[in-house]
Amino acid sequence: MKVVLFNGSRKDNGCTFTALDLVAKSLEFEGIETEILNVGRRVFNGEIEDVVKTASEKVKNADGFVFGSPVYWASPSGELVMFMDRLWAAAGADFRFKPAASVSTCRRAGNTATLDVINKYFAYSAMPIVTSCYWNEVHGKTPEDVLKDEEGVQTLTMLGKNMAWLLKSIEAGKSSVTQPVWVDKVMTSFIR
Ligand SMILES: Cc1cc2nc3c(=O)[nH]c(=O)nc-3n(C[C@H](O)[C@H](O)[C@H](O)COP(=O)(O)O)c2cc1C
Repeated sequence: MKVVLFNGSRKDNGCTFTALDLVAKSLEFEGIETEILNVGRRVFNGEIEDVVKTASEKVKNADGFVFGSPVYWASPSGELVMFMDRLWAAAGADFRFKPAASVSTCRRAGNTATLDVINKYFAYSAMPIVTSCYWNEVHGKTPEDVLKDEEGVQTLTMLGKNMAWLLKSIEAGKSSVTQPVWVDKVMTSFIR
């Protein structure tokens, strides 16, 4: 089983990467394969279509996902939002029913608003949203700060464990539980 983790920061090796790496290490410890893709910097550099194409291929074969963002102006990075908008248009069907988690990093405040925005994509696609023992956030301006945030480190480590547990449970249930099916969506616009 494999989890793909997307880093929505403009920095490839900053706080968000460090946070995602904590989740990845915890998943690997539980026997789940992981891959972290740095997407924010590439979107910032104008490579949105290329990065969405690469990501779409990865999404098809992955069993779970983590989307990480730094807080920019009390929201996810514009780069991550643009990436997710395009990725859902290109590969939305391949996300359905697969577990996902959001992770955010900030120096001071704005994490929960950021997590809320990211979780909306999962809710649209019937994806079980994976949680931990606190909101999936860490604090810091540098990767060193992040690693000193003991509570945040514990939260992200437990997040990895919880995702591994859910992935294994879903896999075990495939032979004994009726699998969910996607619906033909009713699309109303509140106009009669
Ligand atoms: C454009 C911009 C806006 C930011 N806005 C906030 C904010 O609203 N609240 C906050 O606590 N930190 C804010 N920060 C700080 C980052 O969220 C924080 O340092 C984060 O951990 C950086 O992650 P990274 O190293 O992966 O880029 C902002 C940083 C930038 C560059």
